[in-house]
Amino acid sequence: MSDESKAILVLHGPNLNMLGTREPEIYGATTLAEIDAKLQELAAELGWPLEAFQSNGEGELVSRIQQAAESNSGVLINPGAYTHTSVAIRDAVIACRLPAVEVHLSNIHQREEFRRRSLLADIVVGQIIGFGADSYLLGLRALAGVLAAG
Ligand code: DQA
Repeated sequence: MSDESKAILVLHGPNLNMLGTREPEIYGATTLAEIDAKLQELAAELGWPLEAFQSNGEGELVSRIQQAAESNSGVLINPGAYTHTSVAIRDAVIACRLPAVEVHLSNIHQREEFRRRSLLADIVVGQIIGFGADSYLLGLRALAGVLAAG
């Protein structure tokens, strides 16, 4: 059963704090603060509290996912470059036993070979990629749907 007193956790990995100025031709001009504000607005509409956390550190992301097991209802995650390398983040998402949705601003399959593999792909409920900042909003709707379905 879904527990709407527990916030949905949004996790942003490394370099996503640079959105707005970082390769705007790939990632768009929207800043991370703007994305988080839009997510807060949509979460309120959907009836969920939402917490957002960004870190450039793999260990910090792992620790936050571990805490989520107790304090959050689901995880919306853009692991940034750790998508392609981090067994530790994969293991933490499995260990927290919460439904997780993976999002990417860019379509990782249209880019360099090394970005085409996600270490989370087979353990998340689903992925939404390639829609810029809208990937997060679509991902939040998808996750809220999964949580509501219980
Ligand atoms: C990204 C794709 C990753 O390959 C990259 O390292 C990022 C952003 C995306 O949202 O498109 O930092 O996760």
